[in-house]
Amino acid sequence: MNVAFVASEVVPFAKTGGLADVAGALPKELSKLKCNVKVFMPLYGSIKKQNLKLNYVWSIGKIKLDIGGEVRNVEVWQIQLKDSDVQVYFIDYPKFFKRKDFYTNSPDEHLRWILFNKAVIETIQRLQWSPDIIHLNDWQGGLIPLYIKENYNWDKFFQKTKTIFSIHNIGYQGLFPANIFNETEINSKHFYPTGPVEYYEKISLLKAGLVFSDLINTVSETYAKEILTEEYGGGMHEILNDRKSDLSGIVNGVDYEIWNPKTDPNIYKNYTSAKLSDKEINKEELLKEAGLPYNKTTPVIGMISRIVSQKGYDILAEALPELTKLDVQWVILGSGEKKYERLMKKVARKFPDNVSIIIGYNDVLSHKIEAGADYLLMPSLYEPCGLNQIFSLKYGTIPIVRNTGGLADTVIDWDKSVEEKRNDGTGFVFDEYSGHALFKVIERAAVHFNNKKVWRSIQKNAMKKDYSWKASAKKYIELYEKAIEK
Ligand code: ADP
Ligand code: GLC
Repeated sequence: MNVAFVASEVVPFAKTGGLADVAGALPKELSKLKCNVKVFMPLYGSIKKQNLKLNYVWSIGKIKLDIGGEVRNVEVWQIQLKDSDVQVYFIDYPKFFKRKDFYTNSPDEHLRWILFNKAVIETIQRLQWSPDIIHLNDWQGGLIPLYIKENYNWDKFFQKTKTIFSIHNIGYQGLFPANIFNETEINSKHFYPTGPVEYYEKISLLKAGLVFSDLINTVSETYAKEILTEEYGGGMHEILNDRKSDLSGIVNGVDYEIWNPKTDPNIYKNYTSAKLSDKEINKEELLKEAGLPYNKTTPVIGMISRIVSQKGYDILAEALPELTKLDVQWVILGSGEKKYERLMKKVARKFPDNVSIIIGYNDVLSHKIEAGADYLLMPSLYEPCGLNQIFSLKYGTIPIVRNTGGLADTVIDWDKSVEEKRNDGTGFVFDEYSGHALFKVIERAAVHFNNKKVWRSIQKNAMKKDYSWKASAKKYIELYEKAIEK
C-alpha cells in the first residue's frame, strides 16, 4: 500500500507538540506493516540541509507554482527516516518557510499553506508515484482532499487515491478572511454561508479537510465521541455529526526507542521497575537543576506543556492559593500565553523552595522531568490524546489527569475502595474542570505518596502499560483498507 503522510511537524526535524511525535513514529511502524510510506513536510529555516545531509531531488527540479499572483519556484529535498524505509520529503520555499516560527500571524500565512498543499501534490506527481492513501494531519494539509478531487482530478495518478484526515486538535482551524478566497483556487461554488469551506464568513482549511476527505479520524476514542458535542466540537460538531459514520478514534502510541527510562540518554540515570531507587537519583538531580531543595518525602509534580488555557492553566491559576499550602514541589516546563507565564514566575518567586518554572522549549529537560518527577500533571480542558501522560506511565511517574479525551483512555484512576480487588490503577483522575476539583485530586494523590507499598504498586501498574505504536498502526491499516473499499 502506498501511503503519503502529510504533516507540518515531524520528529526529529521540527516539533512544537505531539503531532510531531506522531508523525515521526507512526510512519515507521506503518512501513513495518508493508506500507510504502512517504512523509511530506515544509523545510523550515531551523532544519539545516547540510547538517542533516538532505538530498536534493534532481528528478523533481524546480516546481513552478502560481500562488497569490506570483510564480514561485519550489524545490524538494529528501532523506530516509533513521532505522526505517520511510522517505521524508521537504518542501523548500525559503521565502515562506524560513521564518522564526512554524506558524505565524503574518498576512501571507494562507499562501504558505496553499503553497505547501499544492507542492505536496505536485511532488507526488513528479515522483510518478500513485498513493493509495494520502493521510492529512490537522488543517495545514486541509486543502489536499479537495484539490485532488477537483483541481487535479485530471491526473490518473490520483484516480484511486483515498484521503484520510486526522484531527489532532479541533481548536486549531486554519481560519482566513474571505477576501483571500480567490487565492485558494477553490471552486467558488463551495463558498457560501454554511458551505463546505465557509465558517462564519471566513474560510476554514480544517473544515475543507473534514468535508472532502474520504474518512476522518482522531487520536483517541473518547475524543472522537466528544467532538460530536457542542461543548467539545469547536463549532465543527454539526459537520462531524453529518459524517459520523466516517469518523473514528485511534489512540496514539509512543516511540519507546525515544521514551524509555531504561535506555533514555537524556536522563541522569537509567532505571527499570526492578530498581526504582535509581529513579530517585533522577529526582535528586532534577531538583538540583531546577534550584529546589531535595526532600525524599516531599512529592514533586512535573508539568511539560504548551502554556495555554487548553492545558488547564486557568484552573491551575484558580487553585494556586490552596495548592501552595500543600507539601509538594513543582517543576514546570513550557511556554505560551504571557499572562500564565508571568503568574507562574510570580509564584516561583514567592515559593522559591517549592516552585520552579522554566519558560521555553527544551527537549532534554522534558525527558529529565519525566524521569525525575513523582507525578505528571495534565489538567486539560480537552485533550485529543496527550502524550506526556503516556510517556510518564513508562517512567513510573504517576499521571494526574482530567477525565477527558485521550487522558481518560490511557489513565486508570487509582481508587482505594476497589484496588484491593483490581490492583490496576495507574494514576489519579478528576472530572470537574475547576480549581477546587484540581486541588482535591492533588490532595488525594499526595496522600499515597509516602505509603511505599501502595506507591510501588501504582508505579508497577503504570510501568507495565504498553502503548507502543504496533497496535494502533494496525488500526490505521484497517482504516486505510476501509477507505480503499469505500
Ligand atoms: P500537544 O500536542 O497538545 O502540545 P501532547 O501531550 O500530545 O500535547 O504533546 C506534547 C509534546 O510536546 C510532548 O512530546 C511534550 O514532551 C512536548 N513538549 C511540550 N512542551 C514542551 C516544552 N516546553 N519543552 C519540551 N517539550 C515539550
Ligand atoms: C494535539 C493534541 C494532543 C495530541 C497530539 C498528537 O496537539 O493537543 O492531545 O496528543 O495532537 O496527536
